[in-house]
Amino acid sequence: MKESVVITGVAGLLGSRLADWILLNQPNYEVIGIDNLSGGFKDNIDGRVRFYAIDCASNDIQDIFETHNPKYVFHFAAYAAEGLSPFIRKYNYQNNLVATANIVNECIRIDVKRLVFTSSMAVYGNGTPPFDESHQPAPIDPYGIAKYACEMDIQVAGEQHNLDWCIIRPHNVYGIKQNIWDTYRNVLGIWMHQYLNDKPLSIFGDGSQKRAFSFIDDILEPLWNSATFESASRQIINLGSATEYSILEANEILKEVMGGGNTAFLEQRHEVNKAHPTWTKSLEILQFNDKTDLRTGLLTMWEWAQQQPNRERFVWSEYELEKGIYDFWKTSEKAKVDG
Ligand SMILES: NC(=O)c1ccc[n+]([C@@H]2O[C@H](COP(=O)([O-])OP(=O)(O)OC[C@H]3O[C@@H](n4cnc5c(N)ncnc54)[C@H](O)[C@@H]3O)[C@@H](O)[C@H]2O)c1
Repeated sequence: MKESVVITGVAGLLGSRLADWILLNQPNYEVIGIDNLSGGFKDNIDGRVRFYAIDCASNDIQDIFETHNPKYVFHFAAYAAEGLSPFIRKYNYQNNLVATANIVNECIRIDVKRLVFTSSMAVYGNGTPPFDESHQPAPIDPYGIAKYACEMDIQVAGEQHNLDWCIIRPHNVYGIKQNIWDTYRNVLGIWMHQYLNDKPLSIFGDGSQKRAFSFIDDILEPLWNSATFESASRQIINLGSATEYSILEANEILKEVMGGGNTAFLEQRHEVNKAHPTWTKSLEILQFNDKTDLRTGLLTMWEWAQQQPNRERFVWSEYELEKGIYDFWKTSEKAKVDG
């Protein structure tokens, strides 16, 4: 009989692509997928996944865990709109922190072999990169705070309830099956959508911010290893490319890949200026191999993006807080947002 794994956020980038990878490479496992479809798409989910369209904060999670008794749980569900999180604080903590507490409860209750949680490089805040895992977290926005709180909660569950865990801190992951229709997140996907719709490619500030971009295909096996390798037990591990680019450089590379595009510079956002991680630990423990450079990865994603339906761009109809919000996200200005 097959053992089962639960993937939350299975309709999103990491979840759907890890499900694909498991179905291809781990025939002894059945994939149980959970997603409320708030930020991902049903089309992303392979038909062999046993799919539950529910929210991770819901009480139904208990039944699913009891029914399938998963060996490993990959908890990926979250709304990762970091820049918007100060304007949707309550939603951010409910969706990213309270929902995680619900998943942690069930992992403890049924004694899962390991919980893998995707935190974020957002926990590091404004330090001096490169960030290694021993760097003291100091997040600068509610999204990063929620991720850091989840990390701490999971570690406490490890100490008190003997829950085994691995915390992964991915960063700027991109590739096939990413949501390119959300106004507030996934910069490379936003640019592709803008270009496809004859809009200028928007950059917040002057584009000197630096980031490392990680191709999804390169992190799938390491994600699996984070659940199954003994050496990954109770480890916090950065996962993704260590090669940094300025946003302007990334923008230029994508324009070359797409064969055109203009850039529009918008108001500076509250965001970390330079953020890139170390990768030694992911190499040593998870066998991460940063195979795909940005141009090659973008070529693959761009080819896919052009085949996608022209879904309506996702914008919030209202925020919890309008005070201090940037002009380009103001509800009254939304019609003018170039995306
Ligand atoms: N992609 C990145 O660059 C990146 C970087 C750092 C961290 N992460 C983290 O990795 C995880 C996966 O990211 P992704 O890029 O695949 O995001 P994604 O938006 O593509 O996928 C997340 C999925 O979770 C679902 N979801 C959200 N809240 C839910 C809830 N309460 N209940 C059930 N389903 C819910 C969404 O519908 C979506 O399908 C997230 O936790 C994110 O914070 C991603």
